[in-house]
Amino acid sequence: MNKLNMKPNTTTGVLITFCGIDGCGKTTMMNRLINYLGRGSNVYVTKQPTNSVRTSDIFRTYMDSPDHDAYDYRSLSLLAASDRIQHGSKVIEPKMDKGKIVLSDRYFYSCLANLRARGYENDKWIYEIAESVVKPDVAFFFDAPVETAIKRVRSRDAEKNRYIDIGLQHRLRDEYIQICHSNGGIIVPTVITEEQSFNIVKTEVRRGLQKYENKRTAI
Ligand SMILES: Nc1ncnc2c1ncn2[C@@H]1O[C@H](COP(=O)(O)OP(=O)(O)OP(=O)(O)O)[C@@H](O)[C@H]1O
Ligand SMILES: [Mg+2]
Repeated sequence: MNKLNMKPNTTTGVLITFCGIDGCGKTTMMNRLINYLGRGSNVYVTKQPTNSVRTSDIFRTYMDSPDHDAYDYRSLSLLAASDRIQHGSKVIEPKMDKGKIVLSDRYFYSCLANLRARGYENDKWIYEIAESVVKPDVAFFFDAPVETAIKRVRSRDAEKNRYIDIGLQHRLRDEYIQICHSNGGIIVPTVITEEQSFNIVKTEVRRGLQKYENKRTAI
């Protein structure tokens, strides 16, 4: 797997991202971090892809139905990549320029994992697009066995009967682990207690924020 050549963070802000398969614990860990950091004006919370992609016909077809024949997955991937570029340069980076700590529920890595998990392992354009995306200061990849993660998703009232492609979730889990290893991310297992997982998150965030303090005082 090629390393993504993302652009370095040259701002006084810090970017922390949360990725992994559905139900792995991203939102739970992000909410705990928000409580830990405090809801002060220095923290900006966001998610990818934005609602404009989530509500699109092609995204909904892939999420909600086993029949995607009318669509080429790369067109969804490009739509999501376009959304991430726009969101990165017009939302995330301006906040970072103001010195904020930005927390993003999912990030560009999810785009790569999904593309590769669908068999597009040799497409180079995704790597080229990644060069326009800021590299996170701390990139978390939460990890749980697929069966555990699916049970968690199914325990939500609204998603009891949601369509889930189980084979795809297995491929995605593998891709996330490989992407994490190739790009200097942090794997956080979530088959331990929330408290134990969050202790790992806290340690890594403290380290990331220390670098950020050094950067701010150097200016
Ligand atoms: N160690 C752990 N870390 C995180 N979540 C855990 C852990 N142990 C149990 N859980 C439970 O797993 C569930 C994870 O759900 P959560 O909504 O955070 O996942 P998600 O990755 O955001 O899912 P989605 O991709 O659907 O948005 C929660 O109900 C949480 O209480
Ligand atoms: Mg979530």
